[in-house]
Amino acid sequence: MPASIRLIRLDDAPRLARLKGNNQGFFAPFEPERPSSYFTREGQLEAIRLALERHERGEALPQVILDEAGDVVGGITLQSIVRGSLQSCSTGYWVAPEANGRGYATAALRSVTALAFDELGLRRVQAATLRHNLRSQRVLARAGFVRFGMAPRYLKIAGEWQDHDLFHFLADA
Ligand SMILES: CC(C)(COP(=O)(O)OP(=O)(O)OC[C@H]1O[C@@H](n2cnc3c(N)ncnc32)[C@H](O)[C@@H]1OP(=O)(O)O)[C@@H](O)C(=O)NCCC(=O)NCCS
Repeated sequence: MPASIRLIRLDDAPRLARLKGNNQGFFAPFEPERPSSYFTREGQLEAIRLALERHERGEALPQVILDEAGDVVGGITLQSIVRGSLQSCSTGYWVAPEANGRGYATAALRSVTALAFDELGLRRVQAATLRHNLRSQRVLARAGFVRFGMAPRYLKIAGEWQDHDLFHFLADA
């Protein structure tokens, strides 16, 4: 089967703990600081439970990214879903380094953007990257996102409030 995405499940916890735990040095510059418990099976189980609760409340769509064999190689989430006159959400994503460079993040971003517009009825998906995360910026550009600004000291990443470039994809663009 081709690479795909699906809703995260509780039984993804052991594999996610392995992928995140074995690659802590790779992800650390791009993520909030994590307690060591986050990288355990139990820590991932708790994170998945919270994500699924947010999903049930209509606030998020947490997905895993699958390779051609159906194995989980990463994650992509639509979060901060806001309705009313905004109809917008944000996305965050990651792919394990051993599966990088095969188009998984680009394909997942395209799929999740289609879900946001066609199934959730949103009209805007936003993404924020560290200013030096050129790889992620290329992924966004390939998936059709456009840079619209810079947010100073926007997110606390790797222990520092860091500037981010802001991108969006508009349903009616
Ligand atoms: C950024 C990140 C998500 C990229 O994931 P990825 O799956 O490697 O991304 P893609 O494969 O879609 O694109 C990366 C490269 O693969 C190449 N590629 C795309 N499709 C391909 C295919 N079918 N076959 C081979 N290579 C392909 C692209 O040309 C691209 O190369 P380039 O960036 O030099 O132009 C991943 O490196 C990561 O998780 N980084 C750490 C966390 C992070 O930065 N998250 C994003 C925060 S904003």
